[in-house]
Formats: sequence, C-alpha cells, structure tokens
Amino acid sequence: MTKYKVLSLLKQADGFLSGEQIRSGIGVSRMAVSAAVKALRAEGYEITAVTNRGYRLDRSPDYLTVGELMALLGEKRAETILCLDTVDSTNRYLKSLANDGAPTGTVVIADGQTKGRGRRGRSFDSPKGKGIYLSYLLRPECTPAESTTLTAWAAVAAASAVSYVCGVEPNIKWVNDLLLDGKKLCGILTELSIESESNLVDYVVVGIGMNVNEKAEDFPPRLRDIAISLAQVLDREQPRAALCAELIRRMDQLSLDWPQERESYLAAYRRCEETVGRDVRVVSPGAERYAHALAIEPDFSLRVRFDDGEEARLRSGEISIRG
Ligand code: BTN
Repeated sequence: MTKYKVLSLLKQADGFLSGEQIRSGIGVSRMAVSAAVKALRAEGYEITAVTNRGYRLDRSPDYLTVGELMALLGEKRAETILCLDTVDSTNRYLKSLANDGAPTGTVVIADGQTKGRGRRGRSFDSPKGKGIYLSYLLRPECTPAESTTLTAWAAVAAASAVSYVCGVEPNIKWVNDLLLDGKKLCGILTELSIESESNLVDYVVVGIGMNVNEKAEDFPPRLRDIAISLAQVLDREQPRAALCAELIRRMDQLSLDWPQERESYLAAYRRCEETVGRDVRVVSPGAERYAHALAIEPDFSLRVRFDDGEEARLRSGEISIRG
C-alpha cells in the first residue's frame, strides 16, 4: 500500500516532492519511500530523483491500479476499490464479495477478463490493457421491480463520464448500450440478488464494459463492424484511469440520487437515446417482431407500435434498429 500512497502523492504534486515531504505525508521511513519508488519504476513509472530536490513523476503507464485511482479519488474511496490484473468476470467476482457482505459502493476493476459476461448469456470481449471492465455494487432498499431502472440510470452515468473526460457524447441505445458513430462503445450488465425471506433486493451488481484503447485489430473479426473504441473515434489513446475514476464518481452520485432524482436522469436519458423515432426489431425469447419506437416512458420502458398496430411498453429485452 505504501507504493500506492507514494504514487498518489507524486501524481498530485506539481513538480518535485522531497523525500521528507513524502515520508511525513504518509508516515513511513525514508527506506520505505525509496523502496516504493524502486517498485514503481519496475512497473514502468518514470520517476526522476535529484539530490536535494526529491522525486518527480515524469510519465505514467496506462495502468488501472488502486494507486492510480487513489490519486484521483482519494485514499478513503480507494479502500473499497479492488483492481485485478485478470479475472474471469468482474461481475462474478463482485457477486462473491457481495455474498460475503461487501458494502455498497464496492468496485471491482480488471485489466482484462477471460470470461466477460454480456446480456442474454453472451460473452463480452475484454482484451487486456485496452478497455475498462468495472463492476459496481449497490444495495438499494427496494423490490426487484423497482430496481430495474438502475440499468438505464447507469447508462446515463457512463455516458456523462465519457463526455466529461473525453469530450464526445455517446448515444444510448435502449436499454443500456452506449454507441458512437452507430457502433457499440459500451455495454452494461446488471445482475440482481434477491433476499428470499423478504423478497426485497439484497444487492445489485452493475457491470460496465467500455472499449477505450482498442484498435480495429484488437476486436475479433465478427465485432469489427459493430464495435468501436474511444481511441478509434478520437484518434488518440485515452487515459483509462481518469475515465474509470469518473465512472466511479458518477456511479457514487447515482447511488445517492436513486430513486429521487428520476426527472434529471430521465431527461438526460431522453436527450441521448437514439432509438425513439426509428423502426426496430424486437427480440424476445422465441419471438421476433417489427415495430416503431414511439417514446421513453417515465419508468424508462420503451413504448413501441408493432406493425399490426398493437402498442406495448417494453421493460427489458433486446431490440435492433432497422433504419
Ligand atoms: C452487454 O453489452 O451485453 C453487457 C456487457 C457487460 C460487460 C461488463 S465488463 C464488466 C462486467 N463484468 C462482466 O463479466 N460483464 C460486465
């Protein structure tokens, strides 16, 4: 942990920081500071050391570590953030922590996933060192039906984090895909655990997978025409730690806002949502129907008119845009 605290101080410093400032800032020995600097250098951080001036951080690799996030979010917030190198699925991992009693706001992030999970049993391609794979734990006091809007709220949180850090505004495709240039930038998988005695929600895990620094060849061929990364759109690599920290800030805010700030999330959702007004294909288990998307209702359901004139409010499910 000393290593991360040293990194956090160096990141916040404007220029050199003396060994003494670092030592007293985190209450460790001089030896511990130089060991931390050595360890950070071994990880790829470029740190200049000058006698009588101290240490200066010149360059950071694009790592998603607790140290990086601590520098951006503070030591206290970092206590419930876990950064893993590779894991099968951050959602699966966080659910096991939740079952063991992890508090609301716990976050699991991985540099890569071997079995990233998507909606409807699909996989989510998660190449190491390229994207953001983040799961966020919420413990709302509500029924399972009431919790369903969390997934649309999370789309608003993710879209606003991208727009704040990268300066581009993704569209939302109902319910919770983020798109740029009509291609998928981010997917969200929300998983729920219900307390059997009360039938209330025990916890919700919101899993966010975002394509950040992938080049076309980093996507499997089947995805190249339908997926896109921020780096592809903006023509330069994006800082994953800054984006991740902003995602966590927006999710922290969401957990304070839900459910009473519905109007503002609904307005933001409607502003970004691009399905309304389009012809869509509605896919539900065992059936497929064509419809026109009419509106996002106050409960974030999608009102559609099927080709036979019947109208319905879709609460979940899959749609694809036809034209
Ligand atoms: C989808 O578009 O179908 C949802 C994709 C969700 C992927 C994220 S990555 C982080 C979290 N862990 C998982 O295994 N899945 C979600």
